[in-house]
Amino acid sequence: MTGFPTLNTPSGPVPDGAPAWNPQRRSGMPYEKYRPFHERVVVPALDDRRWPYKVIERAPLWVPVDLRDGNQALAEPMDTPRKRRMFDLLVAMGFKEIEVGYPSASQTDYDFVRHLATRTDIPDDVTVVVFTPARAELIERTFASIEGLPRAVVHLYTATAPIWRDVVLGRGRAEIKAMIMEAATLMARLGPSVRFQFSPEVFNLTEPDYILEICDALTALWDASPDRPMIHNLPATVEIATPNVYADQIEYMHRNLARRDSVILSVHPHNDRGTGVACAELAMLAGAQRVEGCLFGNGERTGNVDLVTLALNLHAQGVDPMIDFSDIDVIRDTVAECNRLPVHIRHPYAGDLVYTAFSGTHQDAISKGFAARTGPLWEVPYLPIDPADVGRSYEAVIRVNSQSGKGGIAHLLQTHYGLSLPRRMRAEFSAIVQQATDASGKEYGAADLHSLFTATYLVPGAASVPADTEVVAREHDDHLAYAEIRTPEGTFWGAGPTPDAAVLSAVTRSRR
Ligand code: KIV
Ligand code: ZN
Repeated sequence: MTGFPTLNTPSGPVPDGAPAWNPQRRSGMPYEKYRPFHERVVVPALDDRRWPYKVIERAPLWVPVDLRDGNQALAEPMDTPRKRRMFDLLVAMGFKEIEVGYPSASQTDYDFVRHLATRTDIPDDVTVVVFTPARAELIERTFASIEGLPRAVVHLYTATAPIWRDVVLGRGRAEIKAMIMEAATLMARLGPSVRFQFSPEVFNLTEPDYILEICDALTALWDASPDRPMIHNLPATVEIATPNVYADQIEYMHRNLARRDSVILSVHPHNDRGTGVACAELAMLAGAQRVEGCLFGNGERTGNVDLVTLALNLHAQGVDPMIDFSDIDVIRDTVAECNRLPVHIRHPYAGDLVYTAFSGTHQDAISKGFAARTGPLWEVPYLPIDPADVGRSYEAVIRVNSQSGKGGIAHLLQTHYGLSLPRRMRAEFSAIVQQATDASGKEYGAADLHSLFTATYLVPGAASVPADTEVVAREHDDHLAYAEIRTPEGTFWGAGPTPDAAVLSAVTRSRR
């Protein structure tokens, strides 16, 4: 066991000796008050780490903790009707293990577990998880809450990390281990038929040898076996390091846990550094079989890891996520209502704008990608997944503002009105749209574009075609005819229901 001193200890750019191309100077920020992770935690020395060479080939067991960890982070915690709505959504999506509350901490959570225990509509393949600290009276109340539930996991947690031992609990390693063992013995006595889970809080800041000692002792005490495995859940309660460090910590546990076939190795990342998803994914490569998180990343501070992003990341790799996201808007709206928190418009896979391109070059590439599709495989530039997979229509994919180009405008007129503008006319109309959107600062929807197009080009005022006028282009689609004329004043496009009407529109325009 060593620290991490040689692997990744860059001193960063040296502001005063920075190379000429780097104009950055000292920030003035008080960064010196923080210590790097390798001075705060013993990281297992894994010179032969295997996770970088793995790929994720199947979904882990997903366990939503929205009703416990997520709920603990809400300004207005859920009552039974809100909890039940979230629970029903989770069941409908296909989750099979769901943490439903902390029954010894609040009457509301206790009542909700009792509500579930007295209903007959909990599917047979769904197991509820309840959360408890290592205190006898709280464990007893937790077991009272699950009485009558046909399947349950009782999840014991205790803080094990050094600062928590020293500052919060005021107990040493041996005392904390003894406290955990005492709690676990009581659990074994109270619930011989339930399953058990243990979480060493702030696993990622705790010494690996100590975690291993506690976990192995619990595996033995609870007599875990392949047909009644226990869950060791290893939380990155507060993220402190780059995701590769968490992956090393998980691989170390995966390789060293006793009775490995009788243990489900679970992870529970939070998102303090914004790398919760990366931590979970690398942890899966490192051996994690179960992942706890919340939908859309709700949870204390910056949230729990987002299960939606994780699962749909698998979907986008051709791996069955084992959860149904086919109507993501209903899922998002239900979660937002239960949590009373909005989901960001840029949220991966679910935000309102995540399948939308405003930029002209992106629109052009997307349009070409759609047109080039032949088989079932999805390969459309700028769209990591087919929006239809999650119940989104293609309508929002291309939206037009002042940054958009002719490809996007043509795409909207084509898909909404069946108009196929001639190539040169597209370029001209796109300049007209740009003027209009620049002037208004507004987005133009398909209907706005169609009105502007009609007002510009369908202007059949002229009665005849002057002798000095040459018709240089004629095209049509199923709806309109298009004509370009050359006159002494220049070239002009027009459109109309017939080729002659299109020419007359162009003549009208030439006189304006
Ligand atoms: O983040 C955490 O550590 C938790 C528990 C699993 C203790 O929510
Ligand atoms: Zn947590």
